[in-house]
Parts: sequence; structure tokens; C-alpha cells
Amino acid sequence: MKHMIELRNVHKNYQLGDYVLHVLKGINLRIREGERLAILGKSGSGKSTLLNMVGVLDNPTRGDVFIDGKNVSQMTENQLARLRGKKIGFVFQFFHLIPSMNVLQNVLLPMTFFGKKDVNKAKKILRLVGLGHRIEYMPRQLSGGERQRVAIARALINDPEIVLADEPTGNLDSKSGKQVLDTLLKINKQNNITLVIITHDVSITKKMNRIVYMKDGKIVKERCKK
Ligand SMILES: Nc1ncnc2c1ncn2[C@@H]1O[C@H](COP(=O)(O)OP(=O)(O)OP(=O)(O)O)[C@@H](O)[C@H]1O
Ligand SMILES: [Mg+2]
Repeated sequence: MKHMIELRNVHKNYQLGDYVLHVLKGINLRIREGERLAILGKSGSGKSTLLNMVGVLDNPTRGDVFIDGKNVSQMTENQLARLRGKKIGFVFQFFHLIPSMNVLQNVLLPMTFFGKKDVNKAKKILRLVGLGHRIEYMPRQLSGGERQRVAIARALINDPEIVLADEPTGNLDSKSGKQVLDTLLKINKQNNITLVIITHDVSITKKMNRIVYMKDGKIVKERCKK
């Protein structure tokens, strides 16, 4: 398997007035095509910051990020926007749906950024996540688990190669959490989409093939299964 994303000695600092907060302290991480990776660690250990680096949402202070062997620092802002929009899908803890748009419109949104609008494709993806019967609902009319599956559908609309999820079940009851997990596993299996999930949820970590543990901005342990 080839490596689609590689972080080499990545550091991230935040400047808070006179004080520099050293959040990531030399992260080396290679993510393979089709793998399911979990990131664990205590609150404040730098997990979300790391995911932002993997998703090219933010620049490292030091070190390099490579996507398909290409150094991200050598790409233009335009290339980066395309990369984020097309290759990478994001799923967040609090869903981030647009409340004034219905389910279908929410799912289509990342596609409209590229000047396209394929309603049939959006409907097909909504069926894939088990929401074919909810396309005209507004987010407020959905359960938490349904909202998160809309967010997953939205993350899939541009055929990403990788989906990054920051505590996707953190705000869900266990039944909804299971539906969300099943949906993520399904897209990994059926579409060979790489998954990187930050989670405390043991039912998720059990299903991943690699777990990295973070502590104080470093990867301190790594566990691979099969
Ligand atoms: N934009 C920012 N500006 C300043 N400090 C930040 C910023 N983002 C994160 N931090 C700080 O960096 C540290 C790591 O934050 P991060 O969000 O990566 O942690 P985390 O492991 O995801 O925690 P949690 O499990 O609570 O989500 C924290 O101390 C946080 O306050
Ligand atoms: Mg976090």
C-alpha cells in the first residue's frame, strides 16, 4: 500500500501574547491508502491540531506535510483549496450543518463550491448513509445520529480519498453512535476510503487497524492490528 499522507517532524506553536504554546512537538506519521486509523489521547494533547495538519486546514510551524508525495508547502492557495475540497472529507463533533438548508442542500454544498450540482449523486450517497427518506428534512428535525450521517454524506459528495473525523460520536447516544460507526466502516470497506478518527469511543477503536496515542504534543505509542 502506498502512503497518501505523510507528516515529517511536524511542530505547531500558538503565540498567545508573549507566550508560545508548543502544541505539536515533532510528529512523524504516515497514513496509508484505505487504512483505518484512530487517534487517542487526553484533552489538550494536540489531537485536533494534528488532524488539522493532516487535513491541510492549517500550516505547521515547522516540519513538512506531504500529500501523495507532494510537499504541501509548495502548493498555491488555489491548489490547496482544491485538495481540501476534493481529496479530503471532514466530519466534526458538532456536525456543522447549515440550519437554514435542508438535508439535500447541505450534502450538495461542497459540490457547489466547484460549480457543480449533481442531485442524483447526493441522493445516492444519502441512501448509502441510510437517509434516503430524509432528504427534505431540515437539520433541526433530525436526531443527532441522523445529523452526523448527513455530515458524513456531505463529506463524501466530492469522492474524497480520506475522511477525517473529530470525535464523530462524541455527542451521540450509543445507538446513534453505532449507526455512525457502521456508516464510516461501510465507506471504508466499499469505497476504500481512508479513515482517520479522533475518538475515546472503544467501540470505534476496536474496529480500527491502527491506533496512535498522543501525549503532550507527541505520539508516544502506536498499536497495529493485523
Ligand atoms: N487556535 C489556537 N490558539 C491557541 N491555542 C490553541 C489553538 N488551538 C488549540 N490550542 C491549544 O492547543 C492545545 C491542544 O489543543 P487540541 O484542540 O489540539 O487538543 P485535543 O487533544 O484535540 O483536545 P480535546 O480532546 O479536548 O479536543 C490546547 O492546549 C489548546 O488550548
Ligand atoms: Mg479536540
